[in-house]
Amino acid sequence: MQTQANSSTAVLDNTGETTAPGTREILRGENLHKTFRSGAQDVTPLAGINLTIARGEMVAVVGPSGTGKSTLLHLLAALDTPTSGTVYFGGSSLQSFSESELAEYRNRAVGFVWQRHHLLPDFTAAENVAMPLLVRGVSLAQALRTATTWLGEVGLADRAEQRGGQLSGGEQQRVAIARALVNGPALLLADEPTGDLDQRSAENIFELMQRLHQSLQLTSILATHNLSLARRADRVLTLERGALAPGAEALSETAAPLPRDASAGATTPGDRG
Ligand SMILES: Nc1ncnc2c1ncn2[C@@H]1O[C@H](COP(=O)(O)OP(=O)(O)OP(=O)(O)O)[C@@H](O)[C@H]1O
Ligand SMILES: [Mg+2]
Repeated sequence: MQTQANSSTAVLDNTGETTAPGTREILRGENLHKTFRSGAQDVTPLAGINLTIARGEMVAVVGPSGTGKSTLLHLLAALDTPTSGTVYFGGSSLQSFSESELAEYRNRAVGFVWQRHHLLPDFTAAENVAMPLLVRGVSLAQALRTATTWLGEVGLADRAEQRGGQLSGGEQQRVAIARALVNGPALLLADEPTGDLDQRSAENIFELMQRLHQSLQLTSILATHNLSLARRADRVLTLERGALAPGAEALSETAAPLPRDASAGATTPGDRG
């Protein structure tokens, strides 16, 4: 099993180790803006986001529904592109990556846990976990062996043959975490990993992520509505009205809905944490 970020033979160093020696930064977002053009009105959930993530940190991003937490994670994972601004991985701008480097970044450097599990319901748990290995050309037999080992890591050794659609919500999240980690990424980005779960199951998933974060020396960012879990991360950032602020205190208890264009009047406090 891969227990650490791989060293890749391809052009991209998926560990992000290319950052200048002594620099702890692994990921940085610089003046990120994102506008969605939807019909007559634009929506700008991100209006000048600055954040720097240090290697080995676990950071929680909180904020009211619809403020852009998923959007931000998608930009950091290169699953979507910013309207303006730049994401740097290991000091290199993602904009400077070729298509194949971007594909490798998504497949090897980043493990992504989707807000909606996105398991393939008709495929077994092992097949779901094996998918990222198959994408990079590992043989089916080897991929299934590795996937089964990973299912053991997340406490699902006895569910390998169960179809995705027949697993409980908590089990599906464990499969999604195993799938995110199977290629040995440096970064774990988890979008509401405990969203649909009761508090006990949410605690269990969070503790699993914390254990893997430490044992695999990951850098983890999770978006969550669960403030009690968020406060157990190394750092909490609040995303509200297009901007990021350190801590959860900025989270207004009675947050008004996001204005249709949050860039109007939005300040850019950036990441002072
Ligand atoms: N592909 C898209 N096209 C148009 N609008 C979008 C798109 N994706 C997101 N949005 C809008 O951008 C805003 C931010 O959405 P996002 O999903 O990032 O919020 P969120 O903070 O993750 O919310 P939640 O906590 O409910 O998951 C919302 O107003 C949403 O409707
Ligand atoms: Mg979301």
